[in-house]
This record gives sequence, C-alpha cells and structure tokens, in this order.
Amino acid sequence: MRTTVGIIGAGPAGLLLARLLHNAGIDSVVLESRDRAYVEHRQRAGILEQGTVDVLRAAGAGERMDREGLRHDGIELRYDRKRHRVDFPALTGGRSVTVYAQTEVCKDLIALQLKEGGPLLFETEALVVEGAETDSPRVRFRHKGVEGVDGVEDVEDVLECDYVVGCDGFWGVSRMAIPAELTRVFERTYPFGWLGILADVAPSHDELVYARHDRGFALLSMRSPSVSRLYLQVPEGTDAEAWRDDEIWTELERRFETADDWRLERGPITQKSVTPMRSYVHEPMRHGRLFLAGDAAHIVPPTGAKGLNLAVGDVVTFARALTYERETGSSELLDGYSATCLRRVWQAERFSYDMTTLLHRAPDATPFEDRLQLARLERIAGSRAAETDLAEAYTGFPFG
Ligand code: APR
Ligand code: PHB
Repeated sequence: MRTTVGIIGAGPAGLLLARLLHNAGIDSVVLESRDRAYVEHRQRAGILEQGTVDVLRAAGAGERMDREGLRHDGIELRYDRKRHRVDFPALTGGRSVTVYAQTEVCKDLIALQLKEGGPLLFETEALVVEGAETDSPRVRFRHKGVEGVDGVEDVEDVLECDYVVGCDGFWGVSRMAIPAELTRVFERTYPFGWLGILADVAPSHDELVYARHDRGFALLSMRSPSVSRLYLQVPEGTDAEAWRDDEIWTELERRFETADDWRLERGPITQKSVTPMRSYVHEPMRHGRLFLAGDAAHIVPPTGAKGLNLAVGDVVTFARALTYERETGSSELLDGYSATCLRRVWQAERFSYDMTTLLHRAPDATPFEDRLQLARLERIAGSRAAETDLAEAYTGFPFG
C-alpha cells in the first residue's frame, strides 16, 4: 500500500486530519487498532473551543454539531458555598464554547471518511514506524486476515508514505520512532483522578459548574438537555466499581453545596469510569517525515477541557504546512511545525495546570494551601483581569 500521508489512529486528531487532507486534495490512509464501535463510544471530552467549531464547520463536518451542539457563554465557579459566573463573551470580545461530545465529533468524521474519504482501516494495528529520516517512511502494521484452515490469521503488511502523522494517543507507537537522544519529555502526575458518570437526568444547571470543596473537586457537565455528565475527584488508583450510585450522588451533592436553595437532581447512572490525571509534553513533535499530533505528543489534565482542542490545533497546523509545501515548494511551515504547535501546547498546559491546582484538593494539602486556593478564587471573582485570563484560555488560543 502507498499513500501521501499515513495516519496512525482514528481519534479526533487522526479523523480530522484525514478530512482536512481530503479537502486539500491530499490522499491519506488511516490505521486504527480498535473497531469502529469502540472509537465511537469511548467517553472522553465534551467542550469545543470556538476555533474547533469553526474548523469542523469549514471542513464540512459541522452540520449535526450546529444542530445538536449546545453553545455556552460561561461557566460557574463554586467555592466556600459561593457561586461566581464567568461571562465569556463579555470578557473575550464575543467568544463562547460549544458542548458537543468527542464521541459525536468522531461519529461525524468517521461517516464522512467512509462516505467520501480515503481508506479508514479499523482493527488494524500499527506496529512500528520505519525510515522517518528518509523521504519514504513506512508503517508496518497488522490486521485481521482471511478465514483460513486455522481460523482467522493476522496478516502483517507495510504502508509506504511520503509523511507519517502519529495520532495514536498516549499509548501509541509513533513516539517510539523518535530517537531517545533527540527527545525531551516533561511530565507531572497528580495524586488524584476523576470518577466520571453519565446519568439519564436533565443537567441541574444550564452551564458547567466547577466546584472547589474541602472534600475535593466536582464538575457538572452535560451531553444533551436530558443527559448529565458529572465528575468527582477521587484518589489515584480508585476503582469505579468501588462507588455505589447513591454514594456518588451524595458526594456530588456535598461538594456542590451552596448558600442558596440550588439542588442537584439525581437519575439513573448509565456509565461509570475513572480517568487518571497527568500533564505530559514530548518534544520535539517532529522527526524527519514523522509528525506527532494530539495525545501522541501531549496530555493535559481534563480540568481545562483542552485535550481535543489541542489535537485540532496540531492537525490544522500540519495540514496547512503540507498544503503550503505542495503549493510553494517551501518546507518552511513543515520545518516550523513542532515550534508552532508547542507554543499553543504549553499555554494549554499552563492553563490546565492552573485550573487543576486551583480546584482540586491534594491529599496532603495544608491549611495554608487551602486558604491560597480560596484567595485565588476570590481574586478571579473580584478582578476582571484575573477573570479575563481564565475566559481567554478556556475559550481557546489561536491556531498556528
Ligand atoms: N495502531 C493504530 N491505532 C492506534 C495504535 C496503533 N498502534 N495505538 C493507538 N491507536 C489508536 C487508539 O485506538 C485511538 O483510537 O489511536 C487513537 C488515539 O485517539 P485519542 O487517544 O483520542 O487521541 P487524539 O486523537 O489525539 O485525541 C486527543 O481527544 O479523545 C479526546 O480529550 C481526548 O485528549 C484527547 C483528545
Ligand atoms: C466533559 O463534559 O466531559 C468535560 C467538560 C469540561 C471539562 C472536562 C470534561 O473541563
């Protein structure tokens, strides 16, 4: 097999990149190790920055998002039983965010790719990227073979490319093709994670609520007017099944407590899982003709809702750079890919770290640190400058 761009991974990064390249008349092949159902139902993020919304619309993938997505003009910060709303348009010159789950973004992009895009090969696992330093890198991969005398045999194959983009997430293989001696990794883990639930109950607030509480962080989000998405800070290594449904609701109610009569509506929990918390950046994001995009290159704690939006910024940057090279013969933007992406990545890392340390209570938190968090929250609630920094970062950094 041969293609211009070999894409490893069919998450938001890989799927959107395939769409952007298709629209630019550049052929690609997407290799995805899991099956379609897994990719379309993996519960992850839910917030699209304005820039991401604009890119999806321009790529022809925004029709259902425009119909079903929920535009949000603010979030509520909750602490010490107080409530403070951050008004995005007023602080950012009109920017907002859209609540539209990453599962739905992937479904829309998969449908488009299967309908009019290049090959999207599910249950096809990339094993290794070879020849990244040459003009024709290769991806060695394995896929399910045909029914034989001994059942279905796996078959190994090779995809010859002009470029390879590793969109294979944190646990992928593409990063391994960059020599360790050329690599710098920046990482921080946190002593807590998020227990996330989906519940068949209308959200108890019309915007997202981020709560800082002495018992720990809680987040009220949503997937639709009838489906709530909620998260609880839990100790790292927590087993989701260790929490009974009624215990989850009771703990959420305690952490969302306010001085007024606001109340959290309960409902049947339909999905429960624990997400670990990590900050991670792999530099560089390019080696020869191998480019990294999305979680393959960087991870942010989900507190700032940046993961998917960073992946979008990376693939927009790559598609622009490759298009520029084919139109002008200049590799200037491809050569600047890593530096361009990392400027945006590090701003998102800074914001995600700030939001995480602002709202989560570490197991070994001291009374001084507790007061410091409350002082930081009071500063945001009382200073347009501090509030603007949060609103600008939350609604998104410019691409490229
Ligand atoms: N071969 C083929 N596919 C692979 C391989 C491999 N060796 N390893 C991983 N994959 C696939 C995974 O199955 C997954 O579908 O790569 C995809 C990576 O997708 P994501 O982990 O979602 O990463 P990305 O596309 O960068 O999305 C980034 O979007 O999902 C949200 O918030 C989430 O931060 C995340 C963001
Ligand atoms: C979500 O809806 O899944 C979500 C929203 C905001 C976040 C993280 C996750 O900061």
